[in-house]
Amino acid sequence: MPERFSYELKATDGKARTGVISTPRGEIRTPAFMPVGTAGTVKAMLPESVRATGADILLGNTYHLMLRPTAERIDRLGGLHRFMNWNRPILTDSGGFQVMSLAELRKLTERGVTFRSHIDGSRHEITPERSMEIQRLLGSDIVMAFDECPALPADRKRIEDSMRLSMRWASRSKEAFGDRPGHALFGIQQGGLEQDLREESAKALRDIGFDGYAVGGLAVGEGQEAMFGVLDFAPDMLPADKPRYLMGVGKPDDIVGAVARGIDMMDCVLPSRSGRTGQAWTRHGVVNIKNARHADDPRPLDEHCTCPACTGYSRAYLHHVFRAGEMISGMLLTWHNLHYYQELMQGMRDAIAAGRFAEFERDFHAQRAEGDI
Ligand code: GUN
Ligand code: ZN
Repeated sequence: MPERFSYELKATDGKARTGVISTPRGEIRTPAFMPVGTAGTVKAMLPESVRATGADILLGNTYHLMLRPTAERIDRLGGLHRFMNWNRPILTDSGGFQVMSLAELRKLTERGVTFRSHIDGSRHEITPERSMEIQRLLGSDIVMAFDECPALPADRKRIEDSMRLSMRWASRSKEAFGDRPGHALFGIQQGGLEQDLREESAKALRDIGFDGYAVGGLAVGEGQEAMFGVLDFAPDMLPADKPRYLMGVGKPDDIVGAVARGIDMMDCVLPSRSGRTGQAWTRHGVVNIKNARHADDPRPLDEHCTCPACTGYSRAYLHHVFRAGEMISGMLLTWHNLHYYQELMQGMRDAIAAGRFAEFERDFHAQRAEGDI
């Protein structure tokens, strides 16, 4: 295993890229989808099952883990990898974004953000320095700079001020992160839907210098068309020799469109969360397993899928256990969804390497248009 973090771009096809990120804890094949393990678990999945779906890296959350069980406790117990029994790479988000969406009585200042826990109402503060400390205590392999982002739509002044604050925080994050061989620090571009603000943000981040660059502030209410509009220019503003990570995205068609525009990494709760609410993602679209029309259906969810839910069980069984509130329902559907997402990523990596990404995109959309699921 290498001692340092590095990124190798292997092939491009149009703007789409495929490559490998090397870390001391293993390789991350890109484009990569990161399942979300917010509280030290990908809900309803054992870590070895998550790995079996093809995941190279998980996402964890500073915000949730600092509140419960605390970063200090995880550190005493040997770090997050050991604590949750996942010894491959972990990327942790930095906390600000979750504070803004989950916490109560938030107060934003130049110094950082203070808030009340959504769990027990206790008071906390996160600054760029504290976020770097928490992510170090967790033992995160890819640390995210501490940032802030308004929900869209927001007026330009709010987006501009917020972006500039995030860039000052990015600089403090870099300073506090220090020199940690084998660990990476990613900056996060902000600037809403405004091209000039995105460029100002990208320049600030390039000047600071990071191991990778995220496009933040998207999938916050703007819709796919507006998001793709930003992705038509934002990734080009970030260094081509470093990984580019689109945060919090998305549905399969968002992911394919983002990769087409030059994105290398993504994360989203969608495959795991929708698995627990009875939704299965397939090449033909979404199957709502609670629908009565599945009650007598002996066919698998997807006849081409090799996951345990599809090789061992009928739609009728999956419908039954969902309706009965049995835990295996969330387990099987989450496994299927993560398997589907990882197969989609592998398909894109292969297509880019072979120079047939446009054809892949066409087939992807054609299969979904067929309907009949
Ligand atoms: N998750 C989704 N979007 C964002 C963002 O803009 N910043 C951070 N830190 N996390 C995110
Ligand atoms: Zn399946």
